[in-house]
This record gives sequence, C-alpha cells and structure tokens, in this order.
Amino acid sequence: MSAIPFYKWFVGGKTNIALNAVDRHVKTWRRNKLAIIWEGENGEKRTYSYWRLYQEVNKFANVLRSMGVRKGDTVTIYMGRTPEIVIAMLACAKIGAPHSVVYGGFSDQALADRIADAKSKVVVTSDGSWLRGKIVPLKNVVDEAVQRSPVVQSVIVYKRTGQEINMEQGRDYWWHELMALPIASNKCETEVMDAEDPLFILYTSGTTGKPKGILHTHGGYQVYTSTTLEWVFDLKDEDRWWCAADPGWITGHSYIVYAPLILGATSFIYEGAPTYPYPDRWWRLVEEYGITVLYTAPTAIRGLMRFGDAWPARHDLSSLRLLGSVGEPINPEAWKWFYKVIGGERCPIMDTWWQTETGGFVITPLPSVPLKPGSATRPFPGQVVDVVDEHGNSCEAGVEGKLVIKRPWPSMLRTVWGDPDRYIKQYWTDYAQQGWYLAGDSARKDADGYIWVIGRIDDVIKVSGYRLGTAEIESGLVSYRDVAEAAVIAVPDELKGSVIYAYCILNAGSTGSDELEKAIKKHIREEVGPIAVPEKIEFVTTLPKTRSGKIMRRVLKARAQGLPEGDLSTLED
Ligand code: WT7
Repeated sequence: MSAIPFYKWFVGGKTNIALNAVDRHVKTWRRNKLAIIWEGENGEKRTYSYWRLYQEVNKFANVLRSMGVRKGDTVTIYMGRTPEIVIAMLACAKIGAPHSVVYGGFSDQALADRIADAKSKVVVTSDGSWLRGKIVPLKNVVDEAVQRSPVVQSVIVYKRTGQEINMEQGRDYWWHELMALPIASNKCETEVMDAEDPLFILYTSGTTGKPKGILHTHGGYQVYTSTTLEWVFDLKDEDRWWCAADPGWITGHSYIVYAPLILGATSFIYEGAPTYPYPDRWWRLVEEYGITVLYTAPTAIRGLMRFGDAWPARHDLSSLRLLGSVGEPINPEAWKWFYKVIGGERCPIMDTWWQTETGGFVITPLPSVPLKPGSATRPFPGQVVDVVDEHGNSCEAGVEGKLVIKRPWPSMLRTVWGDPDRYIKQYWTDYAQQGWYLAGDSARKDADGYIWVIGRIDDVIKVSGYRLGTAEIESGLVSYRDVAEAAVIAVPDELKGSVIYAYCILNAGSTGSDELEKAIKKHIREEVGPIAVPEKIEFVTTLPKTRSGKIMRRVLKARAQGLPEGDLSTLED
C-alpha cells in the first residue's frame, strides 16, 4: 500500500521506459522514421532514425555494462546538446541505471556535489560544446569535479569539438573508441524494471543550501509525460517537434527525450545559442527543418524580440501550427510578439505550468481551450489544483494564495534522493492534514476558474527561467575570503524575468571596490556557475534581520525597487 506522501503507481507493473521510447518502434514502420534531427551550432547536421537510435542506445548500454554499471547504479551525465546525451540517458534507462544529468552550465563544485550525493562511479561527458562561437570546456570542469569525487572510477568522453584536453590513463575513455570495441554490440537486453524503480535523479534548487535530488520512476513518469505531450500539443506522426530547452533540465528530460520518443515523434535538437551567428538562427532552423510545434521559454522569446521583427520576417515560418511556453509567467508583450510575429496569428500558445517535481504539465491549455495571455489556463484532465489560504480554504477569485495539488498524479516526484524527511518537510507539511502537495508558488484564480501563477513564495529565484536557491548563492558568496555575510534577492528584469542583487557584509579590514565586486562575481561563476552571477553586488554594514536572525529579504527587495518597506515590527534593529 502506498501511504501519503509516498505514493506508488502501477504497483507490480513491469516495464522499462526505453522499451516504449525505442525498442517498440523498431518493430513497426517507425523503424525508418526520424527520431532525432540535430544541428550543431557550427552547422554540422545529423539525423537518427529509430532504428539507428536503437542500435546506438544498445551499443552504449553494453559499454556502460562493461564498465561495471549494474541495475540501480547511478551514472552522472554532464554533456552539451548533442544526440549523445539522449543516447546516454536512454542507455542508462535500458540497463536500469538511474541517470543524474547535470546541466552543462554548472560549475565544478556544483557538479562535484551532485556526483557525491548520487554516488556515481561513472561520469559521461564531452570534450566541449559550441556556444556563441566558442567552446564550453566541459571536460576541464569534469576533471576538477572528479578530483574531489573519490567515488568516480571512469569518465567516458564524447569528442565533440576536438580541442586538446587532458585524458587520464586508466580513468578516462573516449566514447568513439569504446563504441568501436566488440563489447559494444548492437544487441542488448532491456532490463525488466518495476514500475516504481528509479529512472532518474534531477537536482533542483530548494530553500536550503543543498540541491535536492528529485526522483522519478519508470512507470508513472512515462505514462504522464507522453499523455500530456500528446494531448496538449496534439502531436502527430507528421509533426516536427522542437522543444528548445536543454536536456539537462526537466523540460528536456520530459519533452526532448522521453515523451516525444514514446509517442514515436521526431524531436529536433539544436546545440547552440539562438543568436549565433545572427539573431535569426532559430527562425532559419524552423524554416529549414519545417518545425511544426515550437516549445520555449518567455526569457528566450524576450531575448529574440529585442532584435526586432525583421529577423523572423526573413523566414518562412508557415510550417508552425502550435507554440508553447514554460518556465515563468509569460508577460503580455512577449506573448503578443510570439503569437503575431512568430505564429502569424495562426498558432495557439500552450502556456504550460509545471515543475521538476511534477514531471509533466499540470496547469495547461489544450489546443481547444480559449486562451488568456499570461495564464496557463486550467488543470490538465485528472489534476485537482487549487489556490488556497494558509488554513486550506479555497481563495475567492482575484485573491492571491498558495498553489496546491490536491490529488497524486503518475509522474509526481517519489522522494528527495537519500532524504525522505526533506521530501515530507518541503512538500507535504503545510497542508499535511489535507494531504495536499505544496508547489511553492503563489497564484490567483479568476472568475472563469483560470489560474494565474504569480511566482515563487520560497527562497527560489528564477533567472532566465533557471531555478536557483538564494541559499546556494549566499553560501557561494560567503565562501569568498573577504565576505562575512551575504543576502541575495530577485529584482524584476525586462529580459531575464528577474536578476540577482547581492548584499555583502565584508570582513574587518576589507573594503568594497569595483575590483572586489568583479572578483566576487568571478568566484560565484566558478563556485556555482555562470547563471548564478549577481547583476549587482552592494557592500553594506548591516542586513535587515528578524529578532530570530532570519534575513528579511522582502525589506531588501522593497529597498532595491524603491517600494514601501511594509511592516517592520519584527525587524531586530
Ligand atoms: C517553477 C518550476 C517545468 C519546466 C521548467 C521549470 C515556474 C514554470 C511556469 C508557467 C508560470 C511557471 C514556477 C514553478 N513556472 N512554468 N507556465 N507559468 N510559472 O521547472 O525549474 O522546476 O521550476 O517554474 O514558479 O514552480 P523548474
């Protein structure tokens, strides 16, 4: 029996997500259908039919097995956007090894923390990846991280860019060399998994410093992700689907890799920056590949909108029939531009609200639902979502409250890896009596029952749609020798949704300067990653705190934006 909140789905069911995403298609006419179309930033192109993908997955699964990876062993993947990341993920699934994909923008420290938490013996990476015409040196980051990770025995390196890199004898192996060995046979047994067996861990930011390893499973996850994609985007065999996220985030896991392949669709992947070499790169790709459905984030739309209408106007975008948005509320200006200029006023925009934890879309229109720009509309069929006050009463229309999900769903997270107490505390404590899932967002309903998500209520910041915890950035700041104490807040930004402002108290003897600000930013880039670098660092002598010592971020926020500071009765000083 499954007890709240440790729900189980399809108990006793035997499956493997790779069986439904790959194996099954090669027995049908889809064997010769394109599964993946890829274009590198440098113009390289590759395609994979389901048959070829099947063989590559089998080969790499055999390679992993020969490296000693067994059912239940985790594998950490740190790669750029090439088909190999998809092959690596599917190969792990095939042999029952939970993957932990770490986004290629994270620093060596962040990678080392995630490797240690997942206890991965094997890391899969590439020498580099192309971004804005430059190489992202992925393998260097892995070298640094692995030095701090005694559990790692082997590193498999896919050669993407071909620059000089360090290869450690007896630890590092080239992907192409392993794939050429006789052990890399193109036949491989698919491990029979229980529906509830772990499929992957994906780390995401929460309220406290340590990132949480969100756990998803083979059974429920495959059912829910594929059903949501099929219904919301009405995906058909003749579609060319482009989810322009990174496979390293949940959006990529669910809607670049697993759901489209389960549906037997064609998934397009582009390696690099939307503006390289010119701001029409995406529109050229839509035209050239005949993309029919484009799913992206408001921050990307705003970033491209900046360059004006002439760039998209140069391209024939008439293949598009549907558009999608995810990651943060979409502002009306970006919505209108996306709808008019990109969708030619033909394509409804599916604004999908969901989270790493939910695995798939939870609040979303279906193509037939009347849209309201900025609202993800209504819950997906079967979902019971509400906006409630702190006692659990449903909020009236127009009243802001907390977003909760009232019934379990198949692709819900199962736990926080290695920390079930944190799972309970974070998601199931505020409404423990009712047994509701706390999403961590605030929202409003309108008179038509449409839900308008406002933003996070916890200490999570969304920068360009990326999720960061204030605690992660703050602990990065105080690990710099001059910094005694730090607080970070999110400040609204036209392009990125929000940006990070940091307030630092320096150690006695240190003085604030532009050089110091630069040095601290560099430190954060190395310690946490480029996406966590504050827009501005202010040196202060005190921070507003409650008498119990908690930093009052709302006071800092109000000050940064020149707004009223509100109730200061709990302020210590
Ligand atoms: C948080 C989850 C799920 C894929 C990407 C983000 C915000 C997500 C929307 C939307 C308003 C949204 C929420 C949520 N969010 N989609 N359509 N409208 N807000 O996954 O990194 O786990 O972040 O993103 O605040 O809690 P994630």
